[in-house]
Amino acid sequence: MAITYQSKKRIFTLHTEHTTYQMKVDDFGFLLHLYYGATVRGDMDYLLTYYDRGFSGNPADVGGDRTYSLDVLPQEYPVMGVGDYRSSALIIHNADGSDCCDLRYVSHEIKEGKYGLPSLPAVHASIQEAQTLEILLEDAVSKVQVRLLYGVLEKADIITRSVQITNHGKEEIIIEKAASACLDFVSGDYDLLSFYGRHTMERNLQRKPVAHGNFVIGSRRGTSSHQYNPAVILAEKDTTEDAGGCYGMIFVYSGNFQFEAEKEQFDQTRALMGLQEELFHYPLANGETFTVPETILSYSDSGFSTLSMRFHHCIREHVSRGKYKDAKRPILLNSWEAAYFDFTGETICELARDAKELGIDMVVMDDGWFGKRDDDNSGLGDWLVNEKKLGCTLGELIDKVNELDMKFGIWIEPEMVSEDSDLYRAHPDWVMQIPGRKPIRARNQLILDFSREDVREFIFGQICAVLDAGKIEYVKWDMNRSIVDVYSQAHAQGRVTYDYVLGVYDFLEKLGKRYPHMLIEGCSGGGGRFDAGMMYYTTQIWCSDNTDAIDRLSIQYGTSFFYPLTTVGAHVSAVPNHQTGRNVSLHTRGVVAMAGTFGYELDIRKLTEAEKEEIAKQVRRYREEEELVRLGSYYRLSNPDQDSYAAWLLVSQDKEKALLSVVMVETHGNMAVRYVKLRGLSADAVYEDVETGKRYNGMALMKGGLPLPVEQKEYAAYQVALKRVCE
Ligand code: GLA
Repeated sequence: MAITYQSKKRIFTLHTEHTTYQMKVDDFGFLLHLYYGATVRGDMDYLLTYYDRGFSGNPADVGGDRTYSLDVLPQEYPVMGVGDYRSSALIIHNADGSDCCDLRYVSHEIKEGKYGLPSLPAVHASIQEAQTLEILLEDAVSKVQVRLLYGVLEKADIITRSVQITNHGKEEIIIEKAASACLDFVSGDYDLLSFYGRHTMERNLQRKPVAHGNFVIGSRRGTSSHQYNPAVILAEKDTTEDAGGCYGMIFVYSGNFQFEAEKEQFDQTRALMGLQEELFHYPLANGETFTVPETILSYSDSGFSTLSMRFHHCIREHVSRGKYKDAKRPILLNSWEAAYFDFTGETICELARDAKELGIDMVVMDDGWFGKRDDDNSGLGDWLVNEKKLGCTLGELIDKVNELDMKFGIWIEPEMVSEDSDLYRAHPDWVMQIPGRKPIRARNQLILDFSREDVREFIFGQICAVLDAGKIEYVKWDMNRSIVDVYSQAHAQGRVTYDYVLGVYDFLEKLGKRYPHMLIEGCSGGGGRFDAGMMYYTTQIWCSDNTDAIDRLSIQYGTSFFYPLTTVGAHVSAVPNHQTGRNVSLHTRGVVAMAGTFGYELDIRKLTEAEKEEIAKQVRRYREEEELVRLGSYYRLSNPDQDSYAAWLLVSQDKEKALLSVVMVETHGNMAVRYVKLRGLSADAVYEDVETGKRYNGMALMKGGLPLPVEQKEYAAYQVALKRVCE
């Protein structure tokens, strides 16, 4: 049993294979958090301590006992207004103007299988793989009920949390803040690993001590954003890749979020993951229920590697869905960096023809094929094929591509509209715009109010008409600006940011259902919406608009802490690179792009014969290693931002095969030799370098490492394929 309840002491215990999570309903009905960490047996309520603490209030129920205060006790779901002055997980604004909600235990249920969430993405699992715990809490005065949901995936070492708030009171309330997970730690000194960035430089790792005060990250941009990823790790001070305790939290949501880490007056730590409280004032009328998006939790007592692998597995198996969850992904050639807006149908066919010769599977026609769209100032919203530009209908173009034995994919950006478009001229009231104010432009485009069903339906009809034009096997769903003008003509304000995201999910769900065989790749100016919420609908996401192989080392390194390679769109592009101007060899570009869903993004027609041959070789190589990339265990072997080389290793589940990839990021005169130590191999096994035939003991590779060549070359890259042999 993954979930147990001890009725005498009212203790709930959630067990996964390597972790324990425990909480307790105390004598006053408060739900206190007891423990989360490595597996323990027995009750952890002895950890609770009670002292008279000055300026920490005492609930009326405790009478004259000044040692009981919610300001000090570890809580499962801390709420504003009951004497806890730390950051709250929930703030309810009542009809009488007060901000208070005193939640006490009412009942609970343990169920087989994993709960699902209405209209929101969530971890999914078979009935045998998971159990659910629901704990019902209530505020006796306002009649607000809060249902805490816990999903326990025992084998996967994953615990999920979500929260449903129902207003059973007569008056409308406003939810001012709602988190889905709180972790309170009575002891410990932690570091916080977060992933910050910007457009074309996403998910840089930052590691900082959690100090007194609040450390807050989040997004107010309407999407999860390039600036901070909704995924963090709380780690013990000395935690490394393969030793030490660490907790991971990912928010399964693609809009505004907020994460807080707080070290309080008694050196206790609180971590909260939930919805961004700014721009959010959700009105809830009598009988209505609000669902807080899910947070996925995991704990590893053996360092970041194990933690990452648990999240990789969870996202691959329990977040991703549909045909491509388990299927090979096509190797594609995207037209964006090949031609930008400057193409015709003939260009697409030429790219397809050349790509076919090199073994590539699919050509993707990126932005520029519709309406009046020869630059990024017009046309969005007019999803009508520009047949003049293509020189034929879309159906004819797809047929021509298919005749070359190539698959066809297309780019769309359904949430957007250009002011210079027929759609905007016909429906200016469909955009997000505050009455009486001019909207803020970004990339010269505005945002359609996707919280409105009528708007979504219209766009859905238009997009389907395009997708029905022929055999379209892939769609790249883009979103190229942040939201500013948070206002809907159709709804109460305060709910728009949330309803917008649910609108996007609704559209994606319908799209996925209507085209179950289509591969949908997410994108938001590269990785501006690279989150587990989107991964529920889009099996892969364009990782960054930065295709420079060396910058990608950092971006893909940060990305790897939570997200599996199956989700990471990575392409080889031209040099000098269009974002950085850097020159990197084709070989190195290939090695870096192979750490993801592989493809190309360059004008293949301009390549020399030698380059074409090399690409054909890369494509063959990727096909050989594709299963390892998709299903192998991923190990970070260096930190490319600190070390002189970037190295990562993929090991097959049965440890029979491994692929080491290395890129040198520094070059100096008379270089010292670097040794890269492998991980995750079978210690007693003998591995053979497939290319050289050289043999090594598994333990030797892990303890002694492999010496990296010293070459007078900038950004040299190496790939070593290893296979287990019998001696
Ligand atoms: C975004 C995407 C790019 C490309 C352009 C097209 O920036 O991230 O890959 O599709 O839009 O406008």
